[in-house]
Amino acid sequence: MNKPTIILGIESSCDDTSASVIKENVIISNVIASQKVHEKYGGVVPELASRAHQQNIIPVVDQAIKEANIKKEDITAIAYTRGPGLLGSLLVGTSFAKGFSQALNIPLLEVNHLQGHILAHFIKEEKIKDKPMPQFPFLCLLVSGGNSQIILVKDYLKMEVIGQTIDDAAGEAFDKCAKVMGLSYPGGPHIDKLAKKGNSEKFKFSKPQIENYNYSFSGLKTSFLYLVRDEVRKNSNFIEENKEDLCASLQKTVVDILIKKIIKAAKELNIQQVALAGGVSANSELRKTFFNLSSKYGWKTYIPPFAFTTDNAAMIAITGYYKYQKKELSPLTDTPYSRVNNML
Ligand code: KG4
Repeated sequence: MNKPTIILGIESSCDDTSASVIKENVIISNVIASQKVHEKYGGVVPELASRAHQQNIIPVVDQAIKEANIKKEDITAIAYTRGPGLLGSLLVGTSFAKGFSQALNIPLLEVNHLQGHILAHFIKEEKIKDKPMPQFPFLCLLVSGGNSQIILVKDYLKMEVIGQTIDDAAGEAFDKCAKVMGLSYPGGPHIDKLAKKGNSEKFKFSKPQIENYNYSFSGLKTSFLYLVRDEVRKNSNFIEENKEDLCASLQKTVVDILIKKIIKAAKELNIQQVALAGGVSANSELRKTFFNLSSKYGWKTYIPPFAFTTDNAAMIAITGYYKYQKKELSPLTDTPYSRVNNML
């Protein structure tokens, strides 16, 4: 009998250290150590993130292997996030993966973090039978703290970025506006929670007029900042008295901007399958609006389970699995990259 393909995935691109084991395309463990150290700084501090990865990586990998109930020797190959992300953070995962592959004499698979977010849609879970998965080609709206992109997914490993932000990402806009309101980092989840009780029509913020399928969120951020600044001058309690309405109005504006372009792309490219991915896909308003595209346009929509919205190594392991199938192995000389590439 053939031995199953078992992939160990390693993710360390930003502030989460994660390791996951998958057997074929089924997840059997996924351990994430989130770094709380950044909360008081209002954003991720790169040096602190690298240090925390150094502390976490070995215990996290040990735990993932233990929870998977396998031995190190059962692992077929190791997949790691090569980029984009914070260089110091990426170096920790990259170096660990190289050492591990050398020690066990197993192949190394480099993974693009963004490709991982998209392929998270193909992770099978033992408890969920017949999980619907996107059919190729499909469009993916990838929204995170560092990226807002529309990606044409032609196959597991063939993807093309057809639109992206020209300045800030959607998550960044949430986080920066949250900071203006005195909310702790990351601000997106706080805004989501407060928005549930707010009036989304109360405040109007500027929406960008950007060509093609590209995005821009810096104007929105500035318009939010100016409104709050001007109102606080008149009433020092303005933020406290209007927090829920500010959050609801901001959230609605971000969601409207995101959805408008994915609709445009799907219509123009005549693609009826659309998927959501990335940290901001945890946003309840975005999930609801995206889901409603099914009934409105008759499209099939795919929304990731919450566990796979933020950074996790299961998505790196599944991408590694498809790369291993195609024998796309990586050399030990590969180095991490911090910036987004146009072709995934
Ligand atoms: O993908 P991710 O975990 O990290 C990056 O690789 O960027 O995304 C993190 C981003 C943060 O900006 C965070 O505020 C946002 O996702 N986020 C949310 C929600 N949960 C996380 N934004 C809005 N609503 C949420 N519920």
